[in-house]
Amino acid sequence: MAKPKIAIVIGSTRPGRFGDKPAAWIKALGDKRSDLSFEVVDLRDYPMPLFDEEVSPAWAPSKNEVARKWQDKIAEYDGFIFTAAEYNHAPTGVLKNALDYAAAGWVNKPAAFVGYGGVGGARAVEQLRLIAIELQLAPVKTAVHIMWSVMMEARDGKDLAEFGYLNDGANGMLDQLAWLANALKAARAADEKEAKAA
Ligand SMILES: Cc1cc2nc3c(=O)[nH]c(=O)nc-3n(C[C@H](O)[C@H](O)[C@H](O)COP(=O)(O)O)c2cc1C
Repeated sequence: MAKPKIAIVIGSTRPGRFGDKPAAWIKALGDKRSDLSFEVVDLRDYPMPLFDEEVSPAWAPSKNEVARKWQDKIAEYDGFIFTAAEYNHAPTGVLKNALDYAAAGWVNKPAAFVGYGGVGGARAVEQLRLIAIELQLAPVKTAVHIMWSVMMEARDGKDLAEFGYLNDGANGMLDQLAWLANALKAARAADEKEAKAA
């Protein structure tokens, strides 16, 4: 079985966003591993309107072309890492919208979170875990939380990789993601095989 393919979804799109830094850092860390492959997926490349389909994509194909492109992209992956900015104690609207705009592509795949903000994006990450469960994503226990002071140092040019405890936490998160990604990939393949045989 090919190694699981993980999307690192940048969950904010505003000009001057911080989100590029955690995405690049976790990608570099992930690329050191041999058990998973990683790609960065930027929501700026999927400029979807605020959800305006008649029904959920779980029930009918979306009419919006960008939404269909987004759904096809999500379907390529075996797991997800979301960078989680915190806007007013919640996930960003653009990330919630992107989560709403896909359905089948999330099901039975693991999700991990790299939060950042005043309390490391913890409030946004906790809400994302609840949303993930409804989408039948499987959130892993460990998340990364980048605190405000660290964000400021990173904005001033310090590489996130220089914070050893962040690397340790992220590696623990990636270990959990790898285990679940492999287990769920095998389980999805077994389901598909069974469905074909029926
Ligand atoms: C609309 C808005 C609301 C915010 N609310 C919070 C918040 O509730 N908690 C927090 O820790 N940071 C908050 N911030 C600060 C963000 O943590 C900070 O701007 C961060 O860089 C946002 O991520 P981004 O740069 O990738 O967009 C807010 C920022 C914006 C733009």
